[in-house]
Amino acid sequence: MAIGIKALHLSFVPHALAVAGAVMVLVWNIQFRGGLAWESSNKNLIFNIHPVLMLIGFIIIGGQAIMSYKSLPLKKEVKKLVHLVLHAIALILGIIGIYAAFKNHNESSIPNLYSLHSWLGIGVIVLYGIQWIYGFLVFFYPGGSAGLRSESLPWHVLLGLFVYILAVGNASLGFLEKLTFLENSGLDKYGAEAFLVNFTAIVTILYGAFVIFTVFSQAPQEDDYSYSSI
Ligand code: HEM
Ligand code: HEM
Repeated sequence: MAIGIKALHLSFVPHALAVAGAVMVLVWNIQFRGGLAWESSNKNLIFNIHPVLMLIGFIIIGGQAIMSYKSLPLKKEVKKLVHLVLHAIALILGIIGIYAAFKNHNESSIPNLYSLHSWLGIGVIVLYGIQWIYGFLVFFYPGGSAGLRSESLPWHVLLGLFVYILAVGNASLGFLEKLTFLENSGLDKYGAEAFLVNFTAIVTILYGAFVIFTVFSQAPQEDDYSYSSI
């Protein structure tokens, strides 16, 4: 099943959305929320690292890792390497981003893991880690038998898309939760910051949607292998 658009052409839309989302989350946290810091007496600045790394590091780079397979006109071996390295970067930045949320909670005496967002967040990062390790072992090193690889592939794609969609949904919950906290502490519900946060979430969802569309679009002609399980 494929939509009749070339992946390389389609991928320009998510690339533009990625730039927009990255700028928006940075403007929000630096301009409106006071900036980013790993150590500070103002613990909110430690929290601000969380949305920035979860959107730019995890969602955006993770999406680029997924799209790289369909859109880049490169040899399979090179694409495999690009795919696994970008996913590794996304995973590491995601872990650091989650650590920043825990650090902020611990240093501000706020309990951990009380929300749906945090529970799904742990689920997402654990599944992402398992997906990466399984992908690495079966498709890269030491590599499974031809039978295991071809049986694993549809599951790898299906579970990879599932965990990615869950991540995008969970980021939306995070934006909602943070904005609700701010509005409950007096932030104007129709003010500039509230619009910025909601539109950042919309851009995130559109980015995630176009990442998925790219997976269902046409691989480059010069592709030296055919991937047709979806
Ligand atoms: C897929 C991306 C994301 C994942 C996996 C994730 C994961 C997590 C986790 C595991 C926690 C719990 C920290 C603790 O209990 O100490 C947390 C907290 C939090 N996150 Fe995220 N997060 C993501 C994106 C975002 C985004 C984009 C925002 C937007 C501001 C956000 C806002 C929050 C807030 C407000 C908290 C503190 C309240 C709570 O624990 O629910 N998150 N996140
Ligand atoms: C959490 C990390 C990962 C996620 C979420 C993920 C997700 C995906 C997705 C959605 C696709 C389909 C792309 C498309 O057809 O356009 C894919 C393809 C693929 N992935 Fe991953 N992946 C991950 C890690 C890895 C790793 C570490 C490897 C090891 C090399 C790997 C190997 C592959 C291969 C070989 C394909 C394409 C199969 C083919 O078309 O022949 N993946 N992955």
